[in-house]
Amino acid sequence: MAVKQKVLTGITTSGTPHLGNLVGAILPAIEASKGNDTSSFLFLADYHSLIKNLDSKLTHESSFEIAACWLACGLDPEKVTFYRQSDIPHIFELSWILGCLTSKGLLNRAHAYKAAISDNELNGAKDVDKGITMGLFNYPILMAADILMFSADIVPVGQDQKQHIEMTRDIALRFNHHYGDLLTPPEAKISKETGVLPGLDGRKMSKSYKNTIPIFSDEDSLKKTIMKIKTNSLEPGVPKDSTDCNIFAIFKSIAEEDDIKSFQKMYEDGIGWGDAKTYLFDHLSLFLSSYKKEYLKIIKDRVYVESVLKEGANKALEVSTPLIEDIRNSVGIKGF
Ligand code: TRP
Repeated sequence: MAVKQKVLTGITTSGTPHLGNLVGAILPAIEASKGNDTSSFLFLADYHSLIKNLDSKLTHESSFEIAACWLACGLDPEKVTFYRQSDIPHIFELSWILGCLTSKGLLNRAHAYKAAISDNELNGAKDVDKGITMGLFNYPILMAADILMFSADIVPVGQDQKQHIEMTRDIALRFNHHYGDLLTPPEAKISKETGVLPGLDGRKMSKSYKNTIPIFSDEDSLKKTIMKIKTNSLEPGVPKDSTDCNIFAIFKSIAEEDDIKSFQKMYEDGIGWGDAKTYLFDHLSLFLSSYKKEYLKIIKDRVYVESVLKEGANKALEVSTPLIEDIRNSVGIKGF
């Protein structure tokens, strides 16, 4: 039998599951996991959450909600390895080892760190590193450890994460050059949707921008959220450009080809923004309904969710344990 391709992806657990998570990561990852030629590693990046906030309740509840969301969307725990990052201490051990062979200059060039510096500069801070933690600075190393600990071949991510996969490759090659070929340099797989799904304000949908559409809120809140989507100020009756519209881009991510075509026609015919939003709301609410039903069932059973993750951790440890042994040996950390 051919060797299966390992596909790995994680979601930072620092917020309520939103449409960007769903169409950008969760649904494509579940779809890909069904193929017989892939072996999928899907995980909750719970320690990544501390980079973004220090609210322990938020981290904890978000981990639970995102776990329940994966399960509600059809993840089959028998078929994939589904685990919590924090249950695999080997990741953190590897992260230290990788940190010791990663140059600080590489991390100085990371987008997230550079953006934080440039915010400080814009705000005229005396110290450009003001408020920047080592967690944020080291973030690409932890992410590299997540990936390399499981020898992932393919990492499906949004465009904004591409640099982290390139850094992971650099770090893996440096390790292999120095200590021998133990790590697998991964390839990024950038899906079109994850590259462009806009949030309410037109920037990428992301909890960091507070512009998300939560997927399991009640109908009223969902409607209110949709009504907040930013548009231009063209009046009803004036033909509109669907290719340059947040409502349309969001619609496209969840709709079938035929519905996309009819919506496009409505744009040409000059649909008003209120009607366009209602149209999106109706479709989205229908699209989400089966996931939501399942989700509401799953969140009642915390013991079930915990047991799935514990089993997943055991499966993941079967993979990480022999590799971390080899890594320790290769760096000279071993018994006498
Ligand atoms: N940093 C990713 C994000 O914010 C989440 C993540 C953490 C991840 N570790 C990963 C994604 C490893 C893919 C592989 O979207």
